[in-house]
Amino acid sequence: MPAISATAPGKVILFGEHAVVYGFPAIAAPVTQVRAKAIVLANPLGKIGQVEIDAPDIDLHSPLSELPNDHPFVVLFSNLMERLGVKVMPACSVRITSSIPVAAGLGSGAAVSVAMARALSSFLGHSLPNDQISDLAYQVEKKYHGTPSGIDNTVITYSKPVYYMRGQPFERLELLHSFTLLIADSGIKSQTRRVVEDVRQGWQSDREHYDKLFDLIGQISRQARGLIEKGRSQEIGSLMTTNHQVLKELGVSCPELDRLVKAAISAGASGAKLSGAGRGGNMIALVQPEDADAISETLRKTGATRIITTRVGPD
Ligand code: MEV
Repeated sequence: MPAISATAPGKVILFGEHAVVYGFPAIAAPVTQVRAKAIVLANPLGKIGQVEIDAPDIDLHSPLSELPNDHPFVVLFSNLMERLGVKVMPACSVRITSSIPVAAGLGSGAAVSVAMARALSSFLGHSLPNDQISDLAYQVEKKYHGTPSGIDNTVITYSKPVYYMRGQPFERLELLHSFTLLIADSGIKSQTRRVVEDVRQGWQSDREHYDKLFDLIGQISRQARGLIEKGRSQEIGSLMTTNHQVLKELGVSCPELDRLVKAAISAGASGAKLSGAGRGGNMIALVQPEDADAISETLRKTGATRIITTRVGPD
């Protein structure tokens, strides 16, 4: 039997992180320059039920049966098998690799789940539609991030820019023009679960203040949607910077991200903000394509450890 493989991209949140957990809209786009990949290979000599996991990026080489029950791979396998009515796995090996930086706000965990769910479901002879793949990844996110909004698994599964509100069907953004983003890593690991929990604690102790900030972010996302669809990059940029200020007030930025945002704008970006959970991870800056190299250089000098240049646009 030939090897079966599947991939999934990374993602950036353009507007609305954190508020999206509380039901406000957010906008996200895939980052196709980085990907997670899963390859499933049947092992005709193995015993039925024997699954070997090989994930060199995280130095994991183990039979699935020896991983803890709450390990994301185990959660994914058991949900997938239950959904497909598969009682025992045919003997196989699963190799998982990813070029998506971990704990950087780029959705590496969700992308691994999506790639694995795709490859395994076709290996089992039941390729699943995107809504089910997305849901399988969401179940893993729930185990790991407590109260995920579902935006990461959605944008990664469909690999299209999306306008997303928790609990509602997502909408695809119809872009007329493309725009260029620099994604600059602060070099600090971002712990999504921790930051999301801290925001929840803050919200529980001062609902009025937090609700006001979430509402403001929701308004920004709604306004951004129209501007993105029309390609009004200068205005999109300044909304990004405003969104960053509100995230800062929410307590999810950090000096390194603030410095990168400031440096990008001083070097000529139309706007910039943190992206994802924050307190580390990545900053995104909206730039004119001809300025991308010079602004990247400034960001590197300001401490960015890695910069990805990507385009968000029509297919
Ligand atoms: C994480 O990529 C985005 C957050 O809004 C959490 C979530 O939406 O689940 C911080």
